[in-house]
Amino acid sequence: MEDSSSNWWREGVFYQIYPRSFADSNGDGNGDLQGILAHLDHLNDGTPNSLGVDAIWLSPIYPSPMHDLGYDVADYCDIHPMFGSLADFDALLQAAHQRGIRLLMDLVFNHTSDQHPWFQESRLSRHSPKRDWYIWRDPSPRGGAPNNWQSVFGGRAWEWDETNQQYYYHMFLPQQPDLNWRNPQVRQALFDVMRFWLERGVDGFRLDVVNAYFKDALFRDNPPRLGLRGYDRQKHLYDKDQPELLEVYAQMRQLLDSYGERMCVGEMLNGNPEMNARYCGDRKLNLAFDFNFTRQPWHPAAFQRAILRNEASLPPGGWPCYTLSNHDISRHLSRYGGRYPKERAKVAAAMLLTLRGTPFLYQGEEIGMRDGKIPYSMIQDPPGKRYYPFYKGRDPVRTPIAWDASPGGGFTTGKPWLPLNQDYRQVNVAAQRDDPDSVFSFYRKLIWLRKDCPALRRGAFEPLIQRPRDGLAYLRRSQEQTVLVALNFFALPATLRLEVDLSAQKWRTILGTHRARDEAVALEQTIWLAPHEVWIAEAN
Ligand code: NOJ
Repeated sequence: MEDSSSNWWREGVFYQIYPRSFADSNGDGNGDLQGILAHLDHLNDGTPNSLGVDAIWLSPIYPSPMHDLGYDVADYCDIHPMFGSLADFDALLQAAHQRGIRLLMDLVFNHTSDQHPWFQESRLSRHSPKRDWYIWRDPSPRGGAPNNWQSVFGGRAWEWDETNQQYYYHMFLPQQPDLNWRNPQVRQALFDVMRFWLERGVDGFRLDVVNAYFKDALFRDNPPRLGLRGYDRQKHLYDKDQPELLEVYAQMRQLLDSYGERMCVGEMLNGNPEMNARYCGDRKLNLAFDFNFTRQPWHPAAFQRAILRNEASLPPGGWPCYTLSNHDISRHLSRYGGRYPKERAKVAAAMLLTLRGTPFLYQGEEIGMRDGKIPYSMIQDPPGKRYYPFYKGRDPVRTPIAWDASPGGGFTTGKPWLPLNQDYRQVNVAAQRDDPDSVFSFYRKLIWLRKDCPALRRGAFEPLIQRPRDGLAYLRRSQEQTVLVALNFFALPATLRLEVDLSAQKWRTILGTHRARDEAVALEQTIWLAPHEVWIAEAN
């Protein structure tokens, strides 16, 4: 069924900026707000020369000791001097809005930095007025930590505080104590933070680990399950996904709606479509990332299953939200590119940008970036340091974007905080801008095509193959338009056999890697595709 309530956040293309690695304006090797401002034309200058994205999400830019690279916030209402100032932020927001680009802030409300004044006050004494803003517990009667909860980043989730002889809870690093959402003052303070940014004009929020805000009121032990590391060896029944969340989401949505046209997208810890369905929809979160989609192998059947699972689980008012890469997971070209990075980049982009749902791009994917190689001595990410060489952490997916082939890649005139990728002299924006066959050119064409196609923005999704083997074929159908998408996932020619006969209509190519625009193609129940071909056609 076609979705009739069209909103900007359903139809637009979002783009995640990892600010430290986007563009450095002052030569200190770290990306900053003025750097972003200077590159807004790359994102959207109102013409198909630019990528054409409708909104950006900025990973955290707040004051922070950077133990978790900014996801440890020391002040929710200011900007880290490394990134600039509130005045720089206002200038960026204004310039973005002038170009029709909306902006989401990243709100990390599950925890703060241990340097946040709230925690500093909380830890002063058992009688501090802010004691109950965090989760403090006595040792268990048997001695030791209050229960068996583990930190996502490794080790137990309880840190002993010598001064007051109590433990505090941290789902991530010990430097990231969890807030106590059961305390109404905490809620009030966090809603005030939302108001602060809404008043400044931001268009919404990405909410970090939004399903972890509440923990079990009785602090029961999590039951065991098979897994490799401590955190994975438990069923997380009691340290996240508590029923109290829904009331908070309803309040958040009400606040957002009271500002008109604002939205939020949730990051779910260990998320899946059914969980998203519980938390998104009317009077709940607007969107949540479907991480199940990112976990699929490079096979059309796997993706189709993931898409159908997502579609099937959507609640009333729910809307899919797809992404292939972000700052926490290996870039999708490193996962899928193999010997055909450029070809697969295009197939993956065509899928992401023609599905029913809101697509989120991660900076650098539009030029086909892959994970960088970071020597041990340069690792910044705490889990990377802890688990090296078994897990190299998230630095490889956070390396700077290269804007050109110059020594600092056009990213910086100084020494970049993380090294540029080894292939940056080929994989950079300047090298691809004027090449009509580049990955960047293909992303631009797809995004600008999407703007022109109501069926791609809001039409229903109808798969045309029951058990895809070589590629995907689906229709996107709105009241005004029907669009056909056919994708060959592999390096051999493919014959896609369809469930339905498409001969009643004429199909006109609107974008293709192998067919010219406007080329008419007569179809019956078969589509022939060249290796890694993307073909998008409109029914006339
Ligand atoms: C999820 C964020 O995406 C990740 O980067 C961060 O380390 C954790 N939440 C903790 O805030």
